Amino acid sequence: MNAVWMLLAMLIAPTWCFVLEGSAASYAQFHKWNAALNGSLEFEFKTEQGNGLLLYTDDGGMYDFFEIKLVESKLRLRYNLGGGAQIVTVGHDLGDGRWHKVQITRNNENTTLTVDSVSATSTSRGKEFEFGRFMGNSDVYIGGMPNWYNSKLTLLALPSVIFEPRFKGLIRNLIYSNDEDLIPKRQEIKSHESKCGQFSCADRVEQHKSQRVSKIIFRTTKISFLFSDSSLTTKLSVKAFTR
Ligand SMILES: *[C@@H]1O[C@H](CO)[C@@H](O)[C@H](O)[C@H]1NC(C)=O
Ligand SMILES: *[C@@H]1O[C@H](CO)[C@@H](O)[C@H](O)[C@H]1NC(C)=O
Repeated sequence: MNAVWMLLAMLIAPTWCFVLEGSAASYAQFHKWNAALNGSLEFEFKTEQGNGLLLYTDDGGMYDFFEIKLVESKLRLRYNLGGGAQIVTVGHDLGDGRWHKVQITRNNENTTLTVDSVSATSTSRGKEFEFGRFMGNSDVYIGGMPNWYNSKLTLLALPSVIFEPRFKGLIRNLIYSNDEDLIPKRQEIKSHESKCGQFSCADRVEQHKSQRVSKIIFRTTKISFLFSDSSLTTKLSVKAFTR
């Protein structure tokens, strides 16, 4: 039994992901990103839509923000570090239903956006390039903004973000530093709002932990577990995303 769960954990851990259904309320919330002067952030997404808000975070309503979205299947970063908004666009055909890896890398006045292996760098004007103040910065929102912001627009450095179409698809491997020590870490979801369909793949396995696994079926794209209670058999299938 324990061996089975260890095997499950090994199979599931590297494939942590969650679904955003793209409804009027869907988003996922994560800890603040400590972007500092040289921080980095990365995640992977998969969607069949060409438009949608992927990520937003700001300084709590002053000037600084980072917004990443898909616009006509291209990846667009808009950001401000105080000296004026900058726009960087990379990639194409990103709404093709495949996994794509996004990275933002900061180095003082220079900010680089990468999708897969394509990069573009933009240079900010101004005197200091710190991203807000860590204490006052907002959390990181993925896929949409919580609706309570609609009545608190002054808390947004980029109020138009609430009108962006929500992202519909899958996200995995969100990695950045969320504290003072600046060491990038895999981030865990803090909270989310969604009618259905939002889960971490690992959570779904967790729900069944008390049940007995009666059969495990491996397929190239899917692993299915049959759980047997005294009376019923449940089937759980987990997509086996390969990196
Ligand atoms: C980033 O900046 C911090 C503090 O200034 C420094 O300790 C660290 O070595 C820098 N990291 C990189 C990758 O340059
Ligand atoms: C930022 O980019 C410019 C132009 O490529 C370069 O001259 C400058 O050295 C870069 N700054 C840092 C801190 O790397």
